[in-house]
Amino acid sequence: MSARDQIQSIRDEFARSLASVQSSSQVDEIRTKFLGRKSPLTTVLRGVKDLPPDEKREIGKLANELRLEIEEKLSAVENTRGVKTPDAAHFDYTLPGRVRKVGRIHPITRTIQDICRIFFGMGFEVAVGPDIETDYYNFEALNIPKDHPARDMQDTFYVTDNVILRTHTSPVQIRTMESQQPPVRIIAPGKCYRNEAISARSNIVFHQVEGLYVDQGVTFADLKGVLSGFVKEYFGPDTKMKLRASFFPFTEPSAELDITCFRCGAKGCPLCKRTGWLEILGCGMVDPAVFEYVGYDSERYTGYAFGMGIERICMLKHRIDDIRRFYENDLRLLEQFL
Ligand code: PHE
Repeated sequence: MSARDQIQSIRDEFARSLASVQSSSQVDEIRTKFLGRKSPLTTVLRGVKDLPPDEKREIGKLANELRLEIEEKLSAVENTRGVKTPDAAHFDYTLPGRVRKVGRIHPITRTIQDICRIFFGMGFEVAVGPDIETDYYNFEALNIPKDHPARDMQDTFYVTDNVILRTHTSPVQIRTMESQQPPVRIIAPGKCYRNEAISARSNIVFHQVEGLYVDQGVTFADLKGVLSGFVKEYFGPDTKMKLRASFFPFTEPSAELDITCFRCGAKGCPLCKRTGWLEILGCGMVDPAVFEYVGYDSERYTGYAFGMGIERICMLKHRIDDIRRFYENDLRLLEQFL
């Protein structure tokens, strides 16, 4: 057989072998058979130097082309048919499966969801507003006077003289009342920003959930009823609460809500600073001055509002001691939440 016929017959035989490949070990066998030191092709290549000069070039070229072709086809088969996987006979079905890491909902998002769900049950709807607010919505229309300390550059992030990052979710109250007539019953979760020193207890970005209910004949007793329903549902049925007189420019009367410390059962512990009580939110009856800003008839309508800090509530409930933990993305913390 001439060298040229020999090359052709190697090519034909290789094609037949390749067609019947089923496993990676077979690919290796074929590679040895057709490219190994003792393979016919290697013999042909070795003999090239002894050929007459006119054949030397041609046969050398053909044989080298075939060698490349075989290499390429073998690796193509390995890649596309996936024969790199072990032979069925060697596959160990008893090995444990690979566990895929599933993402989880961030504890802050989770807390917002849990709180909102409770208020949905009481007929509230979600409302949202922008994080970047005007002085008017964040302060002015909420009856916060020009000389109020909250307006100080020390406490508020100013974008321009009139544009700020909202310091609370209360501006959503104004936006909602501007866009609809009573009855209004909304909760508004979202981010707030304050220019404070970052510490274990405060961060420059945090979350609040705002609540607002306006209708004819809404009373402080309604506020108390809704808050007590929330407290028992979120912190447990044995939790007691009390409303302590306080002040906010946009509510009158105003109060802060304290609940009995669920850690020590109100006996006094480090969490409640030995008082037996934990402060969780601010609230009150919407100040008639606020109704004037949004064009509601304050003779006809009354309403209540409340606002709570999400990080604080999440920290209390899950005993997280430092607000900065929420932003470190340490999996050891995050994995403890579903
Ligand atoms: N906006 C107040 C705060 O950030 C909370 C609040 C909301 C108080 C609604 C009363 C009514 O502290």
